[in-house]
Amino acid sequence: MNILIERVGRVAIAQLNRPEALNALNSEVMQELISRLQLLDSDPEVGCIIVTGSEKAFAAGADIKEMKDKSFLQMFNEDFFSGWDAFCALRTPKIAAVSGYAFGGGCELAMMCDMIFAADSASFGQPEIKLGVIPGMGGTQRLTKLIGKSKAMDMILTGRKMSAEEAERSGLVARVFPAKDLLRETISVAEVIASYGKPSAMAARETVEQALELSLREGVLFERRVFHALFASEDQKEGMSAFIEKREPAFKHR
Ligand code: HXC
Repeated sequence: MNILIERVGRVAIAQLNRPEALNALNSEVMQELISRLQLLDSDPEVGCIIVTGSEKAFAAGADIKEMKDKSFLQMFNEDFFSGWDAFCALRTPKIAAVSGYAFGGGCELAMMCDMIFAADSASFGQPEIKLGVIPGMGGTQRLTKLIGKSKAMDMILTGRKMSAEEAERSGLVARVFPAKDLLRETISVAEVIASYGKPSAMAARETVEQALELSLREGVLFERRVFHALFASEDQKEGMSAFIEKREPAFKHR
């Protein structure tokens, strides 16, 4: 099994488990990860998903051995990497908990999650230029939107590594923890997210995602319409009533 799944209450942890290749992402790993996560995504009892790797490697990239001998036509006909679109279509909030190497497709997978938490030992990079190619799982686009053009160019054109500290400073990473605390701290945050109503959490992440896609005017309109729509939810009535009645809300998680 390339993916290990653990449940901690309403939090699901998906751990990449291909240690012999430092969790390199071949087609089998991708398909297994996505099919396991799709089941969790549609489960109302799962309020947040953590994607993690090992202490040494979150993932050392797409699988170079799988790609090496492919022709242009094979890549084009297979629409290689398009399978990852299904990962991006998952609606449950996802946190990447990154320890060790997050290179190439590993860094890109982390960026497909809604936020990245890193161990202080984590190392990020888009080294594809050293292989004679460029990032192919969204790296040129997502890294640029997350850390800006100049720094993304620096990373992608040199192939250099970025430490967890620099990644946090640059806005790639939301929080950094000592390596030994990473999973525990990430679970604590995931539990907070999972304690809210799943519809509001899904709506919140989907709306933030639109900020990367739309103009400000379109994005604000999208936000307003989603905000209006949430007034059809029981969680809105419960959340606001609980505030006024000075008690904890009991969200429905549906
Ligand atoms: C396939 C990989 C791999 C990868 C590591 N391995 N990374 N196999 N694809 N991306 C394998 C090695 O071949 C080796 O297998 C085993 O994992 C252990 O790796 P080592 O190199 O021996 O470990 P270490 O010396 O600790 O070095 C770790 C490392 C190095 C610095 C992370 O493995 C490395 O540089 N990996 C490649 C990183 C990279 O370029 N990633 C981007 C890939 S391209 P054996 O069988 O020899 O023991 C990509 C996007 C592609 O992600 C998009 C455009 C097409």
